[in-house]
Amino acid sequence: MFCYLSLHSVLVISLVSSYVAASETILKWPTVGISILVRNKAHTLPYFLSCLYNLDYPKDRIYIWISSDHNEDDSDKILDKWVEQYGLEYNGVHLSMNSSTSGKLFPDEVRSTHWSEQRFAHVIDLREEALDYMRKIWADYIFMLDADVFLTNKDTLKILVKKDLTIVAPMLISDGSYSNFWCGMSDDFYYKRTEDYTPILERATQGCFAVPMVHSALLVHLEKQVSDALSYRPARYDGPLDDIIAFAVNANNHSIAMHICNDHEYGLVPVPASDTDDADDERELTVNVKLLALGRHSPLPLDPLLAGFVRRPPPARLGCCEIFMINLERRPERRRLMELSFKELGMDVTLIKAVDGRTLDMNDLRKHKIKLMPGYEDPYHKRPMKAGEIGCFLSHYMIWNQVVSEQLEVVLVLEDDIHFVAHFRQRFALLMEELKTVDWDLVYIGRKILQNGEESYVTQHTTRPRYSYWTLGYLLSRRGAAKLLAAQPLARVLPVDEFLPIMFDQHPNATWKAHFPRRDLVALSAAPLLVHPTHYTGQDGYISDTEDSPVLPARKLRAEL
Ligand SMILES: *[C@@H]1O[C@H](CO)[C@@H](O)[C@H](O)[C@H]1NC(C)=O
Ligand SMILES: *[C@@H]1O[C@H](CO)[C@@H](O)[C@H](O)[C@H]1NC(C)=O
Ligand SMILES: *[C@@H]1O[C@H](CO)[C@@H](O)[C@H](O)[C@H]1NC(C)=O
Repeated sequence: MFCYLSLHSVLVISLVSSYVAASETILKWPTVGISILVRNKAHTLPYFLSCLYNLDYPKDRIYIWISSDHNEDDSDKILDKWVEQYGLEYNGVHLSMNSSTSGKLFPDEVRSTHWSEQRFAHVIDLREEALDYMRKIWADYIFMLDADVFLTNKDTLKILVKKDLTIVAPMLISDGSYSNFWCGMSDDFYYKRTEDYTPILERATQGCFAVPMVHSALLVHLEKQVSDALSYRPARYDGPLDDIIAFAVNANNHSIAMHICNDHEYGLVPVPASDTDDADDERELTVNVKLLALGRHSPLPLDPLLAGFVRRPPPARLGCCEIFMINLERRPERRRLMELSFKELGMDVTLIKAVDGRTLDMNDLRKHKIKLMPGYEDPYHKRPMKAGEIGCFLSHYMIWNQVVSEQLEVVLVLEDDIHFVAHFRQRFALLMEELKTVDWDLVYIGRKILQNGEESYVTQHTTRPRYSYWTLGYLLSRRGAAKLLAAQPLARVLPVDEFLPIMFDQHPNATWKAHFPRRDLVALSAAPLLVHPTHYTGQDGYISDTEDSPVLPARKLRAEL
């Protein structure tokens, strides 16, 4: 009965064939060509490539196109090693390394961080080559990714592809107010600060926004017909020879919107070096971003394959006899993050096991002849002292004891949940220089300022602190430690961050002060502060501790010369 087809059964078959099982509607992920230009990026590539590899996107749908030249560092070696190890997992990898340019500058360059006309022209050629290449292989998307963009969010590519926008960029976090988008462009095509910028940067409003410029990491949907008009070549305009400006102007001329998305945290990017920076400064800018990531409790990933290429300063004590870090044994994750920060900064730090309030019992207190401040009550929460606060006091006290007994002239005391500001080492060195010229016992490098703007400067980077909270980080001299011990605080313990302001006579509570008749601690504070608590750094919308530092429209500097 199945041997002949009647008209009727043909009809049935066609009806059946119009039914498609749900599983048959699932498409593969679009194909993405990722283009990467490399020059002297040995300090970023190990992290960059680790992030790239970690992206959760089918690797057989990704084609990687890398061009590397004019290197004075290990960039080519790193690329070689990575491609050799992982290249086959991708749909394809095109790696072009021009070794004849190694160690060379362009004829019109002053130094390797200089963006000369010839360099811009070269970069424009390469970007166009990448764009042409991806068009020819019918890639659905091209992802133009700078080799210093750290996409820590593994879903970045999937999220961006799903947006279905012609040009879209993930907003990247950096130091200060720098990011990879502009909200305004001046008549002569340079960066213009506008009021829209900060709310997007701080993620006060979230989504994808049309802006006049995105750069550093941008996904272009090549399936869109209109995308054929996009080009990095400056076409009929009198603006500067600059790849990103030309691209943005071309997009604008063809009414193609550029979008910046801040709906997720996607990743980080260092502030670009300026023309006056050298290669060391450029590396330093990357260290700043590594510290920023650590401060957000999410260190940049680093593939062990490439870890050997990361250069760090040898551990030192930065002019102190000892650097101590107080850490609770049951907080190994904080310890690990801090140790990574110390490694980046080249700090030789001695771990102090904190006295754990949880395991402290009254017998311990009696044994150490410890008594609490009578009638102490937290000024804000109106609660008695917590065991953790007693433990914290004892941990600091132990260090003061050690400073006196071992005759340590200067120590740095750090707690374990802190974020180091950008350029910490240089700023700390500068502070130490200034401190040679003044008298001091204790210098806060991190604290909660309670009365802002009312403090007088002592040196260019120090003030005379008023009532402050926290003990995140402070320098202590031997004389300072002796004064703190002489006050016999264990006979009337209160939180250590209340005790210190009493000792430099800036505490508002006269009742408590009366317990410590001698309050002659000479205290200073670094200004601006050099460490901040990480739980603020990690908060949504948190920008940075360098909010008042000047905005670096580095691209403007770059293009002006
Ligand atoms: C390598 O760079 C040199 C100098 O810029 C150039 O002349 C040459 O064509 C380049 N080679 C390749 C294969 O791109
Ligand atoms: C592109 O835009 C620039 C600046 O707005 C303008 O000067 C130029 O004439 C435009 N070119 C085209 C082809 O529209
Ligand atoms: C000082 O602290 C004591 C004890 O907690 C409290 O009773 C008193 O009101 C405080 N004085 C001031 C001026 O805050």
